[in-house]
Amino acid sequence: MKLEKDISLKPYNTFGVDVKAHQFISVRNEEELEGILKRFYASELFVLGGGSNMLLTQNISKTVLHINLKGIEVLEETGNYVIVKAAAGENWHEFVLFCLENNYGGLENLSLIPGNVGTSPIQNIGAYGVELKDVMEYCETINRQTLSKKTFYTKDCQFGYRDSIFKSKFKNQFIITSVTFKLSKNQHKLHLDYGSIQKELEANSIDSPTIQDVSKAVISIRESKLPNPKDIGNSGSFFKNPVVSHSVLETLQNDFPNLPYYKIDDNSVKLPAGWLIERTGLKGYRDGDAGVHKQQALVLVNYGKASGKDIKDLAEHIRKAVKAKFNIELETEVNIF
Ligand code: EPU
Repeated sequence: MKLEKDISLKPYNTFGVDVKAHQFISVRNEEELEGILKRFYASELFVLGGGSNMLLTQNISKTVLHINLKGIEVLEETGNYVIVKAAAGENWHEFVLFCLENNYGGLENLSLIPGNVGTSPIQNIGAYGVELKDVMEYCETINRQTLSKKTFYTKDCQFGYRDSIFKSKFKNQFIITSVTFKLSKNQHKLHLDYGSIQKELEANSIDSPTIQDVSKAVISIRESKLPNPKDIGNSGSFFKNPVVSHSVLETLQNDFPNLPYYKIDDNSVKLPAGWLIERTGLKGYRDGDAGVHKQQALVLVNYGKASGKDIKDLAEHIRKAVKAKFNIELETEVNIF
Protein backbone atom coordinates (compact mmCIF):
# COMPACT_ATOMS: atom_id res chain seq x y z
CA MET A 1 0.00 0.00 0.00
CA LYS A 2 1.55 3.23 -1.13
CA LEU A 3 0.42 6.82 -0.83
CA GLU A 4 0.78 8.51 -4.21
CA LYS A 5 0.66 12.25 -4.74
CA ASP A 6 -0.83 14.36 -7.55
CA ILE A 7 -1.88 11.51 -9.78
CA SER A 8 -4.38 11.71 -12.65
CA LEU A 9 -7.72 10.01 -11.99
CA LYS A 10 -8.30 9.50 -15.72
CA PRO A 11 -7.80 5.70 -15.55
CA TYR A 12 -10.09 5.50 -12.50
CA ASN A 13 -13.30 7.00 -13.93
CA THR A 14 -15.14 5.57 -16.93
CA PHE A 15 -15.87 9.06 -18.27
CA GLY A 16 -12.10 9.33 -18.75
CA VAL A 17 -12.05 12.80 -17.25
CA ASP A 18 -8.57 14.06 -16.45
CA VAL A 19 -8.64 15.50 -12.94
CA LYS A 20 -5.97 15.14 -10.28
CA ALA A 21 -6.05 13.53 -6.86
CA HIS A 22 -3.93 15.38 -4.33
CA GLN A 23 -3.29 12.04 -2.56
CA PHE A 24 -4.26 8.51 -3.60
CA ILE A 25 -4.20 5.18 -1.76
CA SER A 26 -5.38 1.86 -3.09
CA VAL A 27 -6.28 -0.79 -0.49
CA ARG A 28 -6.22 -4.49 -1.39
CA ASN A 29 -7.52 -6.09 1.78
CA GLU A 30 -9.57 -5.26 4.86
CA GLU A 31 -6.54 -4.83 7.12
CA GLU A 32 -5.18 -2.13 4.82
CA LEU A 33 -8.63 -0.53 4.67
CA GLU A 34 -8.94 -0.45 8.46
CA GLY A 35 -5.44 1.00 8.73
CA ILE A 36 -6.42 3.90 6.47
CA LEU A 37 -9.72 4.49 8.25
CA LYS A 38 -7.81 4.73 11.52
CA ARG A 39 -5.29 7.12 10.07
CA PHE A 40 -7.66 9.56 8.36
CA TYR A 41 -10.88 11.17 9.54
CA ALA A 42 -13.86 10.11 7.41
CA SER A 43 -14.18 13.71 6.20
CA GLU A 44 -10.63 13.63 4.78
CA LEU A 45 -11.33 10.72 2.44
CA PHE A 46 -12.94 10.48 -0.99
CA VAL A 47 -14.00 6.86 -1.54
CA LEU A 48 -13.59 5.52 -5.06
CA GLY A 49 -14.91 2.19 -6.35
CA GLY A 50 -15.09 1.32 -10.04
CA GLY A 51 -15.54 4.98 -11.02
CA SER A 52 -18.37 4.04 -13.35
CA ASN A 53 -21.11 6.19 -11.92
CA MET A 54 -19.39 9.48 -11.26
CA LEU A 55 -18.58 12.69 -13.06
CA LEU A 56 -15.51 14.46 -11.69
CA THR A 57 -15.63 18.19 -12.37
CA GLN A 58 -12.64 19.28 -10.30
CA ASN A 59 -9.39 18.11 -8.74
CA ILE A 60 -9.91 16.12 -5.56
CA SER A 61 -8.24 17.77 -2.60
CA LYS A 62 -9.19 14.97 -0.20
CA THR A 63 -7.24 11.71 -0.10
CA VAL A 64 -8.74 9.32 -2.64
CA LEU A 65 -9.28 5.88 -1.12
CA HIS A 66 -9.47 3.31 -3.91
CA ILE A 67 -11.35 0.19 -2.79
CA ASN A 68 -9.45 -2.61 -4.50
CA LEU A 69 -10.39 -5.58 -2.29
CA LYS A 70 -10.22 -8.83 -4.26
CA GLY A 71 -11.53 -12.37 -3.89
CA ILE A 72 -14.44 -14.61 -4.82
CA GLU A 73 -15.48 -17.37 -2.44
CA VAL A 74 -18.21 -20.03 -2.48
CA LEU A 75 -19.57 -20.04 1.09
CA GLU A 76 -22.22 -22.72 0.79
CA GLU A 77 -23.44 -25.11 -1.86
CA THR A 78 -26.43 -27.44 -2.11
CA GLY A 79 -27.79 -29.38 -5.07
CA ASN A 80 -29.92 -26.40 -6.09
CA TYR A 81 -28.18 -23.22 -5.11
CA VAL A 82 -24.88 -21.66 -4.19
CA ILE A 83 -23.99 -18.77 -1.90
CA VAL A 84 -21.11 -16.78 -3.39
CA LYS A 85 -19.27 -13.87 -1.85
CA ALA A 86 -17.35 -11.36 -3.95
CA ALA A 87 -15.06 -8.69 -2.56
CA ALA A 88 -15.94 -5.07 -3.29
CA GLY A 89 -13.06 -4.43 -5.70
CA GLU A 90 -13.90 -7.30 -8.05
CA ASN A 91 -14.93 -6.05 -11.48
CA TRP A 92 -18.68 -6.61 -11.86
CA HIS A 93 -18.67 -8.15 -15.33
CA GLU A 94 -15.72 -10.42 -14.57
CA PHE A 95 -17.66 -11.69 -11.57
CA VAL A 96 -20.71 -12.29 -13.77
CA LEU A 97 -18.50 -14.27 -16.20
CA PHE A 98 -17.09 -16.34 -13.31
CA CYS A 99 -20.67 -17.24 -12.31
CA LEU A 100 -21.61 -18.14 -15.89
CA GLU A 101 -18.52 -20.35 -16.27
CA ASN A 102 -19.61 -22.23 -13.16
CA ASN A 103 -23.24 -22.31 -14.37
CA TYR A 104 -24.49 -20.23 -11.44
CA GLY A 105 -27.70 -18.50 -12.54
CA GLY A 106 -29.16 -15.11 -11.63
CA LEU A 107 -26.71 -12.51 -12.86
CA GLU A 108 -26.94 -13.12 -16.63
CA ASN A 109 -29.24 -10.15 -17.32
CA LEU A 110 -26.75 -7.92 -15.51
CA SER A 111 -23.91 -8.79 -17.90
CA LEU A 112 -21.52 -6.06 -19.05
CA ILE A 113 -22.55 -3.43 -16.51
CA PRO A 114 -19.44 -1.34 -15.85
CA GLY A 115 -18.16 -0.86 -12.32
CA ASN A 116 -17.24 -3.00 -9.34
CA VAL A 117 -19.13 -5.43 -7.13
CA GLY A 118 -18.89 -3.15 -4.08
CA THR A 119 -20.82 -0.29 -5.61
CA SER A 120 -23.59 -2.47 -7.07
CA PRO A 121 -25.85 -2.23 -3.98
CA ILE A 122 -25.49 1.55 -3.66
CA GLN A 123 -27.62 2.25 -6.68
CA ASN A 124 -29.22 -1.21 -6.90
CA ILE A 125 -27.89 -1.77 -10.42
CA GLY A 126 -30.45 -3.13 -12.82
CA ALA A 127 -30.95 -4.04 -16.45
CA TYR A 128 -33.28 -6.08 -18.64
CA GLY A 129 -35.80 -6.84 -15.93
CA VAL A 130 -33.42 -7.82 -13.10
CA GLU A 131 -32.08 -5.71 -10.25
CA LEU A 132 -29.33 -6.42 -7.76
CA LYS A 133 -31.92 -6.76 -4.98
CA ASP A 134 -33.28 -9.90 -6.71
CA VAL A 135 -29.98 -11.80 -6.30
CA MET A 136 -28.19 -10.28 -3.32
CA GLU A 137 -28.36 -12.03 0.08
CA TYR A 138 -26.40 -9.49 2.07
CA CYS A 139 -23.52 -7.08 1.89
CA GLU A 140 -20.81 -6.59 4.49
CA THR A 141 -19.71 -3.10 5.42
CA ILE A 142 -17.43 -1.15 7.67
CA ASN A 143 -18.52 2.06 9.35
CA ARG A 144 -16.24 4.89 8.24
CA GLN A 145 -16.37 6.65 11.62
CA THR A 146 -16.49 3.86 14.19
CA LEU A 147 -14.79 1.11 12.12
CA SER A 148 -17.42 -1.35 13.35
CA LYS A 149 -18.56 -3.99 10.89
CA LYS A 150 -22.20 -4.37 9.92
CA THR A 151 -24.00 -6.80 7.66
CA PHE A 152 -26.95 -5.46 5.68
CA TYR A 153 -29.44 -8.07 4.49
CA THR A 154 -31.42 -7.26 1.35
CA LYS A 155 -34.49 -6.33 3.40
CA ASP A 156 -32.42 -3.74 5.36
CA CYS A 157 -31.21 -1.90 2.28
CA GLN A 158 -34.41 -0.04 1.28
CA PHE A 159 -33.77 -0.92 -2.32
CA GLY A 160 -35.71 1.02 -4.93
CA TYR A 161 -35.21 1.97 -8.56
CA ARG A 162 -31.51 2.98 -8.70
CA ASP A 163 -31.77 3.64 -4.97
CA SER A 164 -30.80 2.21 -1.56
CA ILE A 165 -30.23 3.20 2.05
CA PHE A 166 -26.58 3.85 1.08
CA LYS A 167 -27.73 6.81 -1.04
CA SER A 168 -30.12 8.22 1.55
CA LYS A 169 -30.06 7.63 5.33
CA PHE A 170 -26.55 6.11 5.38
CA LYS A 171 -25.00 8.15 2.58
CA ASN A 172 -21.18 8.15 2.90
CA GLN A 173 -21.35 6.35 6.27
CA PHE A 174 -20.34 2.83 5.30
CA ILE A 175 -17.84 1.25 2.96
CA ILE A 176 -19.15 -1.93 1.38
CA THR A 177 -16.40 -4.55 1.61
CA SER A 178 -18.17 -7.52 -0.03
CA VAL A 179 -21.47 -8.59 -1.53
CA THR A 180 -22.93 -12.10 -1.14
CA PHE A 181 -25.34 -13.61 -3.66
CA LYS A 182 -27.69 -16.58 -3.75
CA LEU A 183 -27.56 -18.10 -7.22
CA SER A 184 -29.21 -21.12 -8.80
CA LYS A 185 -27.27 -24.22 -9.86
CA ASN A 186 -30.02 -25.78 -11.93
CA GLN A 187 -33.59 -25.06 -13.04
CA HIS A 188 -32.48 -21.48 -13.62
CA LYS A 189 -35.29 -18.96 -13.63
CA LEU A 190 -34.80 -16.95 -16.80
CA HIS A 191 -36.03 -13.37 -17.24
CA LEU A 192 -36.77 -12.92 -20.89
CA ASP A 193 -39.71 -10.52 -20.70
CA TYR A 194 -37.68 -7.49 -21.58
CA GLY A 195 -38.70 -7.12 -25.25
CA SER A 196 -35.38 -7.12 -27.02
CA ILE A 197 -33.94 -10.18 -25.21
CA GLN A 198 -36.57 -12.47 -26.69
CA LYS A 199 -36.05 -10.87 -30.12
CA GLU A 200 -32.29 -11.26 -29.89
CA LEU A 201 -32.63 -14.98 -28.97
CA GLU A 202 -35.08 -15.56 -31.81
CA ALA A 203 -32.73 -13.84 -34.25
CA ASN A 204 -30.14 -16.46 -33.27
CA SER A 205 -32.71 -19.31 -33.50
CA ILE A 206 -32.37 -20.16 -29.80
CA ASP A 207 -35.63 -21.48 -28.38
CA SER A 208 -34.45 -23.13 -25.15
CA PRO A 209 -31.93 -20.60 -23.92
CA THR A 210 -29.33 -21.31 -21.26
CA ILE A 211 -28.12 -18.61 -18.85
CA GLN A 212 -25.06 -18.29 -21.07
CA ASP A 213 -27.32 -17.63 -24.10
CA VAL A 214 -29.20 -14.95 -22.15
CA SER A 215 -25.92 -13.31 -21.17
CA LYS A 216 -24.76 -13.30 -24.80
CA ALA A 217 -28.07 -11.74 -25.88
CA VAL A 218 -27.76 -9.02 -23.22
CA ILE A 219 -24.14 -8.35 -24.22
CA SER A 220 -25.12 -8.06 -27.86
CA ILE A 221 -28.00 -5.64 -27.10
CA ARG A 222 -25.82 -3.52 -24.83
CA GLU A 223 -22.98 -3.41 -27.36
CA SER A 224 -25.37 -2.22 -30.06
CA LYS A 225 -26.65 0.70 -27.96
CA LEU A 226 -24.19 1.52 -25.24
CA PRO A 227 -20.65 2.76 -25.86
CA ASN A 228 -17.81 0.77 -24.32
CA PRO A 229 -16.04 3.09 -21.84
CA LYS A 230 -12.72 1.70 -23.11
CA ASP A 231 -13.46 3.30 -26.50
CA ILE A 232 -15.61 6.32 -25.59
CA GLY A 233 -15.77 7.68 -22.04
CA ASN A 234 -19.22 7.41 -20.49
CA SER A 235 -21.07 6.45 -17.33
CA GLY A 236 -24.02 4.52 -18.75
CA SER A 237 -27.36 6.23 -18.22
CA PHE A 238 -26.62 9.76 -17.11
CA PHE A 239 -30.19 10.43 -15.95
CA LYS A 240 -32.76 8.29 -14.17
CA ASN A 241 -35.98 7.45 -15.94
CA PRO A 242 -38.44 9.89 -14.35
CA VAL A 243 -41.32 8.51 -12.31
CA VAL A 244 -44.58 10.43 -12.78
CA SER A 245 -48.23 10.04 -11.78
CA HIS A 246 -50.89 8.64 -14.11
CA SER A 247 -52.45 12.08 -14.42
CA VAL A 248 -49.15 13.58 -15.62
CA LEU A 249 -48.90 10.71 -18.11
CA GLU A 250 -52.41 11.38 -19.42
CA THR A 251 -51.69 15.08 -19.89
CA LEU A 252 -48.49 14.26 -21.81
CA GLN A 253 -50.27 11.67 -23.93
CA ASN A 254 -52.57 14.37 -25.30
CA ASP A 255 -49.57 15.93 -27.01
CA PHE A 256 -47.39 12.82 -27.40
CA PRO A 257 -49.65 9.82 -28.03
CA ASN A 258 -46.68 7.50 -28.73
CA LEU A 259 -44.93 8.20 -25.42
CA PRO A 260 -43.75 4.82 -24.06
CA TYR A 261 -44.14 4.14 -20.34
CA TYR A 262 -43.78 1.32 -17.80
CA LYS A 263 -46.36 0.90 -15.08
CA ILE A 264 -44.81 0.88 -11.59
CA ASP A 265 -47.97 0.68 -9.47
CA ASP A 266 -51.52 2.05 -9.48
CA ASN A 267 -50.27 5.58 -8.93
CA SER A 268 -47.12 5.94 -10.95
CA VAL A 269 -45.35 5.14 -14.21
CA LYS A 270 -41.74 5.39 -15.36
CA LEU A 271 -41.00 7.31 -18.57
CA PRO A 272 -37.91 6.56 -20.67
CA ALA A 273 -35.69 9.60 -20.38
CA GLY A 274 -33.88 8.53 -23.58
CA TRP A 275 -37.15 8.89 -25.50
CA LEU A 276 -37.79 12.35 -24.02
CA ILE A 277 -34.25 13.54 -24.83
CA GLU A 278 -34.46 12.19 -28.37
CA ARG A 279 -37.68 14.20 -28.94
CA THR A 280 -35.88 17.42 -27.96
CA GLY A 281 -33.62 16.77 -30.96
CA LEU A 282 -30.51 16.32 -28.83
CA LYS A 283 -29.70 12.67 -29.61
CA GLY A 284 -26.26 12.67 -31.23
CA TYR A 285 -25.71 16.35 -30.31
CA ARG A 286 -22.09 17.29 -29.69
CA ASP A 287 -20.50 20.34 -28.14
CA GLY A 288 -16.72 20.05 -28.39
CA ASP A 289 -15.80 16.66 -26.96
CA ALA A 290 -18.94 16.34 -24.80
CA GLY A 291 -21.83 14.63 -26.54
CA VAL A 292 -25.12 12.77 -26.40
CA HIS A 293 -24.58 9.22 -27.62
CA LYS A 294 -25.87 8.57 -31.15
CA GLN A 295 -27.54 5.24 -30.32
CA GLN A 296 -28.92 5.99 -26.84
CA ALA A 297 -29.81 9.53 -25.83
CA LEU A 298 -29.65 8.71 -22.12
CA VAL A 299 -25.90 8.25 -22.29
CA LEU A 300 -23.55 11.24 -22.31
CA VAL A 301 -20.11 10.66 -23.76
CA ASN A 302 -16.61 12.09 -23.65
CA TYR A 303 -15.12 11.91 -27.14
CA GLY A 304 -11.67 12.56 -25.73
CA LYS A 305 -10.78 15.79 -24.02
CA ALA A 306 -14.09 16.92 -22.51
CA SER A 307 -13.76 18.18 -18.96
CA GLY A 308 -16.19 17.19 -16.24
CA LYS A 309 -17.57 20.71 -16.42
CA ASP A 310 -18.19 20.40 -20.20
CA ILE A 311 -20.25 17.26 -19.55
CA LYS A 312 -22.07 18.84 -16.62
CA ASP A 313 -22.95 21.87 -18.80
CA LEU A 314 -24.26 19.56 -21.51
CA ALA A 315 -26.38 17.73 -18.92
CA GLU A 316 -27.83 21.05 -17.79
CA HIS A 317 -28.64 21.97 -21.40
CA ILE A 318 -30.50 18.64 -21.77
CA ARG A 319 -32.38 19.11 -18.51
CA LYS A 320 -33.57 22.53 -19.63
CA ALA A 321 -34.66 21.24 -23.06
CA VAL A 322 -36.66 18.36 -21.50
CA LYS A 323 -38.21 20.70 -18.95
CA ALA A 324 -39.21 23.15 -21.70
CA LYS A 325 -40.76 20.50 -23.94
CA PHE A 326 -42.36 18.12 -21.42
CA ASN A 327 -42.35 20.04 -18.12
CA ILE A 328 -40.41 17.14 -16.57
CA GLU A 329 -37.36 17.53 -14.34
CA LEU A 330 -34.72 14.93 -15.11
CA GLU A 331 -32.66 13.74 -12.15
CA THR A 332 -29.09 12.61 -12.65
CA GLU A 333 -28.24 9.01 -11.97
CA VAL A 334 -24.54 9.75 -12.02
CA ASN A 335 -22.97 11.38 -8.94
CA ILE A 336 -21.35 14.72 -9.73
CA PHE A 337 -18.36 15.92 -7.72
N1 EPU B 1 -35.50 5.34 -26.35
C1 EPU B 1 -35.60 6.29 -27.34
N2 EPU B 1 -34.46 6.96 -27.67
C2 EPU B 1 -33.28 6.74 -27.07
C3 EPU B 1 -33.19 5.78 -26.05
C4 EPU B 1 -34.33 5.08 -25.69
O1 EPU B 1 -36.65 6.52 -27.91
O2 EPU B 1 -32.30 7.40 -27.44
C5 EPU B 1 -36.72 4.57 -26.01
C6 EPU B 1 -36.59 3.11 -26.49
O3 EPU B 1 -37.03 2.98 -27.80
C7 EPU B 1 -37.50 2.39 -25.54
C8 EPU B 1 -37.32 3.16 -24.26
O4 EPU B 1 -36.82 4.44 -24.61
O5 EPU B 1 -38.85 2.49 -25.92
C9 EPU B 1 -36.41 2.47 -23.25
O6 EPU B 1 -35.11 2.33 -23.82
P1 EPU B 1 -34.07 1.18 -23.35
O7 EPU B 1 -34.74 -0.13 -23.44
O8 EPU B 1 -32.81 1.37 -24.11
O9 EPU B 1 -33.86 1.41 -21.82
P2 EPU B 1 -33.68 2.75 -20.96
O10 EPU B 1 -34.93 2.96 -20.17
O11 EPU B 1 -33.21 3.86 -21.80
C10 EPU B 1 -32.80 1.50 -18.82
C11 EPU B 1 -31.66 1.63 -17.86
C12 EPU B 1 -30.36 1.06 -18.46
C13 EPU B 1 -30.60 -0.41 -18.77
C14 EPU B 1 -31.81 -0.52 -19.73
C15 EPU B 1 -32.22 -1.95 -19.95
C16 EPU B 1 -32.12 3.58 -16.51
C17 EPU B 1 -31.79 5.01 -16.22
N3 EPU B 1 -31.45 3.03 -17.51
O12 EPU B 1 -32.50 2.31 -19.95
O13 EPU B 1 -29.36 1.13 -17.47
O14 EPU B 1 -29.47 -1.00 -19.35
O15 EPU B 1 -32.99 0.14 -19.16
O16 EPU B 1 -32.79 -2.48 -18.79
O17 EPU B 1 -32.97 3.01 -15.83
C18 EPU B 1 -27.48 2.36 -16.63
O18 EPU B 1 -28.12 2.48 -15.58
O19 EPU B 1 -26.35 2.87 -16.77
C19 EPU B 1 -28.11 1.67 -17.75
C20 EPU B 1 -27.52 1.59 -18.95
